[in-house]
Amino acid sequence: MTRILGSLLLVAAAGAVTTGAAPVPKGSPAATATPLGQVIPAPASAAPYGAPYRLDPGTRIGVDPTREGRRAGDQLAALLRPATGYRLPVTTHGAAGIRLRLAKGPYGAEGYRLDSGRWGVTITANEPAGLFHGVQTLRQLLPAAVERRTPQPGPWLVAGGTIKDAPRYAWRGAMLDVSRHFFGVDEVKRYVDRLALYKFNKLHLHLSDDQGWRIAIDSWPRLATYGGSTEVGGGPGGYYTKADYREIVRYAADRHLEVVPEIDMPSHTNAALASYAELNCDGVAPPLYTGTDVGFSSLCVAKDRTYDFVDDVVRELAALTPGRYLHIGGDEAHSTSHEDYVAFMDRVQPIVAKYGKTVVGWHQLTAAKPAPGALAQYWGLDGTSAAEKEQVAAAARNGTGLILSPADRLYLDMKYTKDTPLGLAWAGYVEVQRSYDWDPASYLPGAPASAVRGVEAPLWAETLSTPEQQEFMAFPRLPGAAELGWSPAATHDWDRYKVRLAAQAPRWDALGIGFYHSAQVPWPAA
Ligand code: ACM
Repeated sequence: MTRILGSLLLVAAAGAVTTGAAPVPKGSPAATATPLGQVIPAPASAAPYGAPYRLDPGTRIGVDPTREGRRAGDQLAALLRPATGYRLPVTTHGAAGIRLRLAKGPYGAEGYRLDSGRWGVTITANEPAGLFHGVQTLRQLLPAAVERRTPQPGPWLVAGGTIKDAPRYAWRGAMLDVSRHFFGVDEVKRYVDRLALYKFNKLHLHLSDDQGWRIAIDSWPRLATYGGSTEVGGGPGGYYTKADYREIVRYAADRHLEVVPEIDMPSHTNAALASYAELNCDGVAPPLYTGTDVGFSSLCVAKDRTYDFVDDVVRELAALTPGRYLHIGGDEAHSTSHEDYVAFMDRVQPIVAKYGKTVVGWHQLTAAKPAPGALAQYWGLDGTSAAEKEQVAAAARNGTGLILSPADRLYLDMKYTKDTPLGLAWAGYVEVQRSYDWDPASYLPGAPASAVRGVEAPLWAETLSTPEQQEFMAFPRLPGAAELGWSPAATHDWDRYKVRLAAQAPRWDALGIGFYHSAQVPWPAA
C-alpha cells in the first residue's frame, strides 16, 4: 500500500516538474550486470571474471538436437522474448550466443555449470533438470525487468565468469493445502511457477482433510462430489478431475517438479466420513465440516471396509502419479488410540508399496513402524518434547529418511509478526530471519545428518483463500526454504543472504508478487 501510494505521489510530483535534468524512468535497469552469484538459492560456487555477455537482437539459443534439448531452449526463449522483444530463435546448428548443452560432467542429476563472457553464455548439465535449474540462474542474472511481459529497455547483461552448482539435498519441497480452501488448476500452476524460479523439485499437494476431499476417485465418487463440496468458512470448495490432476502433474514435470499427493489418514478424514456412512464405526455419516479444529475425525480402524477404501484410493492415485512417493498423512490422530494407529499404519503402508510407491508420512508415523524406505516429515518446533524428538531421531537412526518442515521455521502460514493480517500463530511468529537461519543437518538432536533428505515449506490454508494471500505468506520466506534445500552449508549467512533477498524485490514486483516487506530485509528504496 505504502509503495503504491509512494509511486503515485512520485508520478504526481514528476508531472509538476518543468525544469532540470530528464528523470531516470523508474525501474530502468542500471547498465551494470547483476553480480555473478547474487542469485537465490546461492550457487555452490561462483567465480566472476572477464566481460559480461550482452544479449542483442541477433542472439540465438543453441540447443542439442533432442526433444529435451529443444524443450529447454523453448522454455528459455519463452521467458526472454516478451521483455527483450528479441526473436531469440532456438537452433540446433550454427553460432549461438546462449548455448544449452547436455554433456557428461561432474554435475549430478540436477546440477549444472554456467560459463559467461563477451562471447556468450553456455549452460552445461548431465540431465534436463540441471539445464532447467541453470536457466533459472541465468534468469536471475538478467535484470528484473526480464520478468515483465511487455518490451522493456535493456541493456540485457549477464556478468562474466563461471558458476558450478548442484543441490545440497535431493528433496526441496513445497506443500499446498488445497483442502482447507480449494485452489484450482491455474492457481496451482501459478505457485509452481514461483517454485521453479527457486529450484524446488517437489510439489506436495495436501489433497484431503476434514474440510474437503479434492481428487476424483472413480470407485468412490462421492468423495469428490460431496466431500469436496465445501471448505473452511462454507465456500463452494471444489476438486480436481483426473484430467485436472494430470494437467498439474504435467505442468509441474515440465518444470522438473515431482508431485507428491497426500491423502491424510486416519484422522483429518471428516470429508471422507461425511461422504460414505460405511466408513464410520457407527455407520452414521457426520455432516460436512467447515471449521478449523483438528484431530476429531478417524477412519474406522477395525473395519475391513476401511482398507478396501484405502486400497481403491491409493490404487487410483498411484496410477495418476508418475512420482515415486505417496504421502499418507498420519498427523494429529487424536481420536485414534495408539494401538489402532499402529494397526492402521501396519495395514496401510503395504498398500502403498503394493502400488509401487514409497510412503511419506508426517513424523507421527514414527510412533508406528515406518515401512522400509519410508520418509517422515518432521513438523515439530523448538518446544516439541524431547521424547517426541527422540522418537523421530531413533527412527532416523534406524533408516527412516527425514524431510524437515519445522513449524516454527518453515510453516509459511505462520504469521510473521503479531500484526500479520493472515495466517496462524500456534507455532509462534516466524519472521524472515528465523525462517532462514538454521541448519537442516544438525537440526534434530540425535538424528544423523545422513538421514536428512531435505526440507519442505508447507503452506496451510485455513486463513488463505486467494493466490495473492498465498504469495504474501510465501514471500519472502519461500526463497529461504529453497536456499536451505539447495545451497551448501558454507554459503549460509543471514547478513549476506538478506542483501541477496532484498535484490529479489524488483523481480517480485515485475512478476506481480505482493510480498511482506519485512523490516529485517534492506529492501531497495521504492
Ligand atoms: C500438521 O501441521 N498437522 C502436519
